[in-house]
Amino acid sequence: FRIKTPQNESVLSYAKESDERIKLKARLTELKKEQIEIPLIIGGKEIYTGNTQKCVIPHDKNHVLAIYHMAGEREVEDAIEASLKAKKEWDKMPWQHRASIFLKAAELLSGPWRFTLNAATMLGQSKTAYQAEIDSACELIDFLRFNTYFMSEIYNEQLISTNESWNRIEYRSLEGFVFSVTPFNFTAIGGNLGIAPALMGNVVLWKPAGTSVYSNYFVMKLLQEAGLPDGVINFVPGSGSLIGNVVFNNEWLAGVHFTGSTKVFNGMWKTIGENIGKYRSYPRIVGETGGKDFIFAHKLANINKLVTALIRGAFEYQGQKCSAVSRAYIPRSIWSVVKCKLISECATIKMGDVEDFTNFMGAVIDKNSFDRIKAYIEFAHNSDEAEVIWGGNCDERLGYFIEPTIIVTKNPYFKTMTEEIFGPVLTIYVYEDEKFQETLKICNDSTPYALTGGIFSQDRMALVEMENILTYAAGNLYINDKPTGAVVGQQPFGGGRASGTNDKAGSKLNLLRWTNPRVIKENF
Ligand code: ALA
Repeated sequence: FRIKTPQNESVLSYAKESDERIKLKARLTELKKEQIEIPLIIGGKEIYTGNTQKCVIPHDKNHVLAIYHMAGEREVEDAIEASLKAKKEWDKMPWQHRASIFLKAAELLSGPWRFTLNAATMLGQSKTAYQAEIDSACELIDFLRFNTYFMSEIYNEQLISTNESWNRIEYRSLEGFVFSVTPFNFTAIGGNLGIAPALMGNVVLWKPAGTSVYSNYFVMKLLQEAGLPDGVINFVPGSGSLIGNVVFNNEWLAGVHFTGSTKVFNGMWKTIGENIGKYRSYPRIVGETGGKDFIFAHKLANINKLVTALIRGAFEYQGQKCSAVSRAYIPRSIWSVVKCKLISECATIKMGDVEDFTNFMGAVIDKNSFDRIKAYIEFAHNSDEAEVIWGGNCDERLGYFIEPTIIVTKNPYFKTMTEEIFGPVLTIYVYEDEKFQETLKICNDSTPYALTGGIFSQDRMALVEMENILTYAAGNLYINDKPTGAVVGQQPFGGGRASGTNDKAGSKLNLLRWTNPRVIKENF
């Protein structure tokens, strides 16, 4: 039994006066009116600990959308226990039934749930309607459908048998629970890091980022409505160190599915290493971490395509995609034209409340991000090695607004050229055309990261050379395109080096990490 290859979900345009825009606006208004209280969900039960935090709108920081309850040690222990209890049934359930729960979630999400989840993502994470649509609607639906399809492909793979013996492979789940730690920037990643292991028969303790608890709670409710049994995924917001302390000391820790910073991931890896003797099995550690994603242009680049990629890659969702362009290498011979076009494009960018559908950018996620990004811009302002050629203003009176900012530097190793900023800041290094290869090597070696990159040329031999020199510089490499917006099933996503374990979200490779196969040989 195999599942047919799914189609990617079509992106709705939310054009003026369209039915979808009316529905989305209605949901935005309703969500802003109700201030909800978000519990933990453990074993299907709602738990209110009384230790709460606020969810606010980043572009309207005094508007409280919800308060959420945070886990204490006791709740983390309870969540582990509830997951292990649920595992007994979940594990045995025929995979077709597991599949049907997630396929139903996809179906619900392509209906009225779409507007709820998009509205929650727009308000809670300051995404425009388009950015929310490609994340919390399309990408999440794709993860649900494609992962189900990949699971069926895996379960159908069998071994070679002979006349004398029959060889079987059984794709069992991991022996224990999976700890999913999810980031604020994609609601779809929030869902997927729990969904992928759960599909393969695992049970999950899900710790969402504090800044996306709001939309992530709706994902949890969606999965419950689709029929996910109690305890299979447990929703446990709270302090990372408190939760980690309990989880990493538990003998049944079987896997970690993480997206977030390199620093936090390194800390987890170290703690797991220190505790290694405590576990029943070696935990599977899967992580997508930091990035310093690039665009490298050759002198024969198509300039219009290059400029569009720079603007969209660097500034969509305020540069807070793990894949966002934050450094670019442009040859001297085309720089003055590129610069002119970049500046005239930047001048058209509108920033503000994401409910105004004409805005291209909202606010950055919170005060911490705002301060960090602002400090990088100030550093560039005060340096002799760089010039801020566009933007640079930061305004936190209403929300955490940072203008799209372009810095040009003479030093390819300049701080904003090599460190992850995670905001709408693009640093450009203009290289002499004859130093093409030398600059490619700098691009390859000047940061510890290797997540995404885009290369631009209309000359095939130049592309071959770029691809070769940049062999390990990016897990996702785009030719003549921006390096953001990977589509499930088309561009499985993930990077190497300090950007993660490169276990490609949205592919069979990722699902294979959540299975513990048993091979059985029987002689006749
Ligand atoms: N998967 C996201 C993208 O490609 C991060 O932009």
